[in-house]
Amino acid sequence: MAAGEFPSDQYAIESQVRFHGFDPETAIVEIGPREGEDWVRTEDIVATIEKEGVQTALVLYGGVNYFTGQFFDVKAITEAAHKTGAIAGFDMAHAAGNVILKLHDWGVDFAVWCSYKYLNSGPGGPSGVFVHERHGNNPDLIRFAGWWGHDESQRFLMRKGFVPMQGAAGWQLSNAQIFSFAAHKASLDIFVEAGMPALREKGERLSSYLQFLIRDLNQQGYNFHLLTPEDPEARGCQASIFMSENGQQLFDYLTENGVVADWREDNLSGSGGGVIRVAPVPLYNRYEDVYRFVELLKGNNA
Ligand SMILES: Cc1ncc(COP(=O)(O)O)c(C=O)c1O
Repeated sequence: MAAGEFPSDQYAIESQVRFHGFDPETAIVEIGPREGEDWVRTEDIVATIEKEGVQTALVLYGGVNYFTGQFFDVKAITEAAHKTGAIAGFDMAHAAGNVILKLHDWGVDFAVWCSYKYLNSGPGGPSGVFVHERHGNNPDLIRFAGWWGHDESQRFLMRKGFVPMQGAAGWQLSNAQIFSFAAHKASLDIFVEAGMPALREKGERLSSYLQFLIRDLNQQGYNFHLLTPEDPEARGCQASIFMSENGQQLFDYLTENGVVADWREDNLSGSGGGVIRVAPVPLYNRYEDVYRFVELLKGNNA
């Protein structure tokens, strides 16, 4: 799995590993960037999968990394996993509604995501689950079942013997929270209206513009270390700016001036610095917002 992955994945994998009688210290192999680099090379992910070989049960990776905004080559990772006989699963929390995903065509076995980021469902909104049809339509697959995953036509017969719904629906645990689903649907309707290709195109341009302005500041002597890849195909609409010092003050200044950003201390390397994450999201951000954000950076490079 990805090194430094979001705790939802870390704890799920740790506990699954223990459930199967293994030690997380030895059973989990983490793949991260090389020393001194900010993002992970696909070749390193593939080489590690090949090296671990047939003993690998699962390759779990992010689609878009929550910390750096790197968009991984999901197809290449899936193919490498399948070559060793492993299952390929992805955390798409930062990818859903952000980049174009072809999970079925790429052969991904399963993917999960929360909907309260780019999909705008609001805090604690419904989760999304993708299960490839080769598993989703296999009733013999052993799974941990829940009431709501049972065949809908017999759900209220209260009989023994779990009969799964077809597809990802067969993994539902219990009935859904209707109010948060209503908010989620309102958002998804807007996505359908706008269309992902148009959103992705504008998202790429907004991010490119943001990176261009920040790199321009750096040419003028500022020091904003961008952790997010420059190649539009290797990132979502996000910029993660590493600050070795005074990051928290800058973040507070941005907040006071109406910028909704995110501050993460760098707990991994212990550098004492941290990262400001911003997402120029195409549905509700304009080029002018990006410009104003960078003007604020310029005015307060504390
Ligand atoms: C990559 C990633 N995965 C998962 C989550 C959280 O998902 P959940 O609420 O389903 O645990 C987040 C939240 O920030 C995230 O960034």
